[in-house]
Amino acid sequence: MRDSVSTVRRVSDDATALVEAFRARTERQPAGVWAAPGRVNLIGEHTDYNDGYVMPFALAQRVLIAAAPRQDGLWSVTSLNNHSTETFQAADLQPGMTGWQAYVAGVVWALKGAGHRIGGADLVLSSDVPVGAGLSSSAALECAVLSALADLNELDIAGLERAKLARRSENAFVGAPTGLMDQAASTLCTAGHALFFDCRTAGAEQVRFDTAGAGLEILVLDTKTPHALVDSEYAARRASCEAAARLLGVAALRDVINLDTALEQLADPVIQRRVRHVVSENARVLEAVKVLRAGRIADLAPLLDASHESMRDDFEITVPQVDLAVEVARASGATGARMTGGGFGGCIIALVPAGEAERVGSDIVHSFAAAGFGQPMYFTAVPSAGAQRLH
Ligand code: GLA
Repeated sequence: MRDSVSTVRRVSDDATALVEAFRARTERQPAGVWAAPGRVNLIGEHTDYNDGYVMPFALAQRVLIAAAPRQDGLWSVTSLNNHSTETFQAADLQPGMTGWQAYVAGVVWALKGAGHRIGGADLVLSSDVPVGAGLSSSAALECAVLSALADLNELDIAGLERAKLARRSENAFVGAPTGLMDQAASTLCTAGHALFFDCRTAGAEQVRFDTAGAGLEILVLDTKTPHALVDSEYAARRASCEAAARLLGVAALRDVINLDTALEQLADPVIQRRVRHVVSENARVLEAVKVLRAGRIADLAPLLDASHESMRDDFEITVPQVDLAVEVARASGATGARMTGGGFGGCIIALVPAGEAERVGSDIVHSFAAAGFGQPMYFTAVPSAGAQRLH
C-alpha cells in the first residue's frame, strides 16, 4: 500500500518542513501553521443541497498552511505542490477568477463580503489530499486559508460560520454549485468520529466511529477516473432535484415524507428516480446514525451497498470503473462498499475486516489492469480532526 500512497504524499510532509519553506521564501518566521483536512463521506450523497442529512468524516490527509501578515495589502500564496507563487490584491478579487489561487482569493473575498477587515498576508501551503478524487481537496484548501486568515486578523468566527463562508467562496467566487457538506466536514469533524450533519438546521452531532474497536477498517480507493462531466452533471442533478421539489410543492426533497405518494405525483421516470435516490438516501443516513450510536459499525455494510445501488441505478452518477471497484471489493471480502463524493469517477469506500484493506485494494488494482483501466490508488482512512491551528 505504501507505493500507492506515495503518489499523494505532500511535498513538505510536516509542519516543520513547511516552516522552513516559508522562511526560505519570505526570509521571516510564519506567525503560525494551520491545517484543514479532506473528507470521506460515509453516507448521504447528493442530500446536502436537498436540505437533507450527511455523515462525512475528516481524513488524515490535509492542507497545511504557514502564514504571516504583510503590510502592503497584497496576498502572496505559494503552493509547494504546484511549485508556483501567485499574488493578488483587493482589486483582483473578482468572482470567476480561475486557477488554484481562486480557492484562496475566494476566501478573502467571502470574508470581506461578510464585513471582516482582512489584511495582506504571505501564505505557503502544501497538501496531500488527492486532487480531483472527490475527497474535497478544494474544501480543505478553503478551510485552511480561512483558519489562517481568521487568526491573522484576530477574527472570532464560529466553526459553522467558517464552513458557510468557505462554501460561499466555492459557490459564488469559484462558481461550483455545491452544498455545505465538504466545508462542514473539513471544519467541524473531530478525530475518531463521523459527523452527522443536518443540512437544513445545521445541527451537528459527533458520532463515535471506532472502526478498529469493531475489528474493521475503511479502505478508500481512488479510481483515478477523469471526471470531465462532473461539473455539468452535478449541476444537472441539482436542477432536477429542485424541479422535483417544485412539482411536489415542498421546499426541498428533504420534506418528502411518503415516497410512494410523491412518485405517483411525478410523471417523468428520470425525475422519479432522482427523487427515490434522495429520499431513500436520507433514510439510510438516519439508519446509519442509529447503527453508529449503538456501536454496531458492522451493520453499516448493507446501508453502504444500498447507497451504491441507489447512486448507480437511480441517481445515475457512477461510472464503470467505480462500479467495478465496488463489485471487486465485495467479492474480495468487503462487507459493504459504495462510491463516495459527487460522482462520475472519484473514490469508493469499502468496509473491510481489520488487516484486509491491503488485499482488497490490491485485488481491485489487478481487476483494473485486466479491464484495461488505469491504476487506482488506495489507503486506509483514519477519522481525523477538522481544521485547526498547529503552531
Ligand atoms: C460534492 C459537493 C457536496 C455534495 C457531494 C455529493 O462533494 O461538493 O456539496 O453535494 O458532492 O454528496
